[in-house]
Amino acid sequence: MFAALKPQPADKILQLIGQFKADPRADKIDLGVGVYKDATGHTPIMRAVKAAEKQLWEAETTKTYTGLAGDPAFYDAMAELVLGDSVAKDRISAVATPGGTGAVRQAFELVKMVKPGATVWVSDPTWPNHLSILKHLGMPVKLYRYFDADTRGVDFAGMMADLAGAAKDDLILLHGCCHNPTGANLTLADWGVVADLLVKTGAVPMIDIAYQGFGDGLDADAAGVRLVASRVPELLIAASCSKNFGIYRERTGALIAVSDAAGREVTQGNLAYLNRQNYSFPPDHGARLVTMILTDPVLRREWETELEEVRLGMLKLREAMAAELRKATNSDRFDFIAAHRGMFSRLGLTEAQVERLKQEAGIYMVGDSRINIAGLNDRTVPVLAKAIAGVL
Ligand code: LMR
Repeated sequence: MFAALKPQPADKILQLIGQFKADPRADKIDLGVGVYKDATGHTPIMRAVKAAEKQLWEAETTKTYTGLAGDPAFYDAMAELVLGDSVAKDRISAVATPGGTGAVRQAFELVKMVKPGATVWVSDPTWPNHLSILKHLGMPVKLYRYFDADTRGVDFAGMMADLAGAAKDDLILLHGCCHNPTGANLTLADWGVVADLLVKTGAVPMIDIAYQGFGDGLDADAAGVRLVASRVPELLIAASCSKNFGIYRERTGALIAVSDAAGREVTQGNLAYLNRQNYSFPPDHGARLVTMILTDPVLRREWETELEEVRLGMLKLREAMAAELRKATNSDRFDFIAAHRGMFSRLGLTEAQVERLKQEAGIYMVGDSRINIAGLNDRTVPVLAKAIAGVL
């Protein structure tokens, strides 16, 4: 049977990890996969996570199963983190999932189960794995305009014109903040217009929020989600703890659904059912750490402080990069880097230029010229600027 298997295309982002490792050059620079790194290139365990792990090791007395939905304390805390008080609690259902990707997958499956044939609208471009999962599930996809290649900002008029074609019960996938791969984000006013369109068309929003706290702050990054949540009857949210808690390998995320209060119990039951079908119980270790951090005032303060340090560090790198490129290219062409938010910016280089940077300078970025800002430091900012100017 296995002889009939066809090779699968390599994931363009994950492929870079292996290529970078295999490169023997000492001065190589990794701007590929979206993992936070400090100035020394290390991905640290956050202080609050380490402290919670110590406490957990002392206090945990059993490894028996939690519930199918995970620990309610976890998904309640996550719903609170993302939604604040924008919707009544009796409208919220949620489950723990293996990472944000697990939540994305379950959300798509829920839609497929209840509305087979519903079109999923995704931004052009989007995180490649969104498209890959949708293809795997055989769900119809339409792209909506999002990134303006000239301004490197959002083509909001194009986006609205395209989304006006969405039908009732189509799914519209939005990035909650820190758009991946472009770094260009909706303003709060834009979110209001999107909410109007959702109400008018009856299309259902699904918001993937994987970088809350990496853009403008924990609450500011969730403001768009909260605005939409306060306006629409139904909403799906895929939230990740990989980046803002730095617990990538623990696979910690949550799928949150907002429905009317009368439908909450059935919605909750369906989310738990999908967990059972796919992997039974969700992973617990990371979820437990997150719960401890979000509900213990001391741990929470420590986490928020460090997250803010991380966010401000990336902002400083953005400003330094934009300034350095101004000098190196004698133009304001790359000023958008300082205006973008989150880990990523799409530079607007050709695939050939990206390849030259890799071959000639050992600088690794995704083929669409997405860079991970956190892969830079004070020493490499000018190196990258010079190399980019060299391939223009
Ligand atoms: C990324 O976009 O680099 C991250 O979300 C990691 C991944 O799984 O692709």
